[in-house]
Amino acid sequence: MSLTMNRAIHLLVLNGPNLNLLGSREPETYGRVTLADVERLCRQRLAQLSASATLDFFQSNHEGVLVERIQQARERVDLIIFNPAAFTHTSIAIRDALLAVNIPVIEVHLSNIYKREPFRHHSYVSDIALGQIAGLGADGYRFAVEAAVHHLAASTSSACTGATVPAVDTTQGR
Ligand code: DQA
Repeated sequence: MSLTMNRAIHLLVLNGPNLNLLGSREPETYGRVTLADVERLCRQRLAQLSASATLDFFQSNHEGVLVERIQQARERVDLIIFNPAAFTHTSIAIRDALLAVNIPVIEVHLSNIYKREPFRHHSYVSDIALGQIAGLGADGYRFAVEAAVHHLAASTSSACTGATVPAVDTTQGR
């Protein structure tokens, strides 16, 4: 299977509080991969899937800054890959911002939030997200990039004129 896109796509990979400390923060839960490694992983996978697709990568510890970045995304972002971190479980403001911009979201968590404390089992994002990837570590971001490209290619494939996106091959990019 191959999917075709009729325009360049632009992704936003958004990261919430404390994810700047990845690599040193609770490594038994989040692993040794740094946020810079995660960004590299996302960029590499996207480049493998589409030469014309672009990606912004952003992290903030502040709820309002994340809300503003989501609002700005309305201008040119096709899909948001989002690890809201602790705000997943607390932030109606972030949920409302996502609803306001109406951009598809793929929610990512490094850890399996359902195997952890009960307060992590509820997400204010999951029921408005395209889907959620949790518990697969940094690979989850890579899978989210694949899912994003395939979702966007599928949703624009009625007008087939642009770059061909290869079918997902999960053996690549490791
Ligand atoms: C997290 C899970 C959240 O519960 C936690 O607050 C985080 C990271 C994850 O990626 O597993 O900061 O989103």
